[in-house]
Amino acid sequence: MHSPGAAVPVPEPPESFDLGASEETLAKIRDWLPVYGDFFRVYSPRRRVYSYVVNDPEAVKRVLLTNHRNYVKGVGTDQISILLGRGIMTSSGDDWQRQRRMLQPAFHRRVLSGFGGAIAQTNEEYASRWDAVARHGVPLNVTEAASELTLDINLRAIFGDDLALIRERFGANPFSIVHTEADRDLRFAYRIRSLGTILQELIDRRRANPQEKRVDFFEMALEAEDKETGERMSDRQLIDELITLVVAGHETTASALTWTWYLLGRHPEIQEELAASTLGLPALSTLGLEGLEGWAVGQQVIKESLRLCPPGWMIARRTVAPDVLHGVALAAATDVFISPYFLHRHPAHWQDPERFDPSRFAPAAEAARHRFVYIPFGVGPRHCIGEALATFEMATHLAVMSRRFRLTPVSDETPRIEARINYRLRSDLSMWIEPR
Ligand code: HEM
Repeated sequence: MHSPGAAVPVPEPPESFDLGASEETLAKIRDWLPVYGDFFRVYSPRRRVYSYVVNDPEAVKRVLLTNHRNYVKGVGTDQISILLGRGIMTSSGDDWQRQRRMLQPAFHRRVLSGFGGAIAQTNEEYASRWDAVARHGVPLNVTEAASELTLDINLRAIFGDDLALIRERFGANPFSIVHTEADRDLRFAYRIRSLGTILQELIDRRRANPQEKRVDFFEMALEAEDKETGERMSDRQLIDELITLVVAGHETTASALTWTWYLLGRHPEIQEELAASTLGLPALSTLGLEGLEGWAVGQQVIKESLRLCPPGWMIARRTVAPDVLHGVALAAATDVFISPYFLHRHPAHWQDPERFDPSRFAPAAEAARHRFVYIPFGVGPRHCIGEALATFEMATHLAVMSRRFRLTPVSDETPRIEARINYRLRSDLSMWIEPR
């Protein structure tokens, strides 16, 4: 049944299996890695070819960085395209490069710094809500709170003042389906794509009023020009990019925050250390992006949380032309799977990998480690465009909330996880909350 495959023998499990973004894939790779090592292949019955699991950091470097031009997005991209259209997340080659070049300036540090006030203010508003929950003596639904908060912040960054207009015009926030709908199925895709009508209306308004100066992602994308042709994005393209930013930025950051509180709940001593370290921070209004980047304890907690629980747990690529990877010849159109989740637990690079220990990210420890065993935001030219924004949001949130509140688990049970497009908790996380 199996084709002869590569010249160098590559380990493979006896069973065939369709690797993809699924809990079964997570469980299989977990079982197979100790047996077949850092580079093995699995026969895919549906695709009728071998797919490769790549957990060797040098091979990861080749796919995502040194030979990245020979790899396009892989398995699952078609489904993601139904949701996000042909935006920066799903496109490849010249199309992708053009979109990335046009969107990149919107994520410049100067622009992100400008969002600092809104990010801090949104967290302060949520702190008042958390206060009310604490006073009522009921548990806080952390999943819901993190989801609402990140949606609020991301929408402010993307749409700026138009957010108020959207609410006024449509009576509620039509983008809240990103938060209220948990499933990422065809129904969700349909509902998300229907938001295109609203976006078109906003584009028309902005194009008709060019004198209104704004600083938000929408405006920067609207005004971005292709360096080579001087052309701007078409309305269709803009809609795809805006939907991409709303969806890609929200769930990942919301899951990351939920996981962080989950881990802090299980490690009260680290939560206390985090809270104590906020006392040494100046007021948030003067802290800003740089100040938070210098908050060592906060940054280490965020990094360690993203190590153990990386929302983007699976990165799929497909070869364009043949390549030699890990000494093995791969044909054109071969699928490779790189998992931050497993790289972050690689036993040769991480001591006691399941232990939550933020001090792994002390500067000396970080410098001693292979650069490609820690990639929660991907790496290379296609790494996450929102990395600095996400980290800024997370650090602001932890600085505001851990200073004021102590969160403890409601249950000691091991929660069930979901590993599809995102690695997240299957059910909402509830935690007791008390003011400090
Ligand atoms: C903790 C939060 C986040 C995590 C863990 C995360 C993770 C990732 C990962 C792993 C990739 C690379 C995927 C690949 O190489 O196939 C990626 C790409 C991307 N992310 Fe994020 N992300 C986060 C937040 C955000 C935010 C806040 C935004 C935007 C507002 C964003 C927008 C994007 C986009 C547009 C891409 C595609 C970039 C390209 O292909 O050029 N992400 N993200």
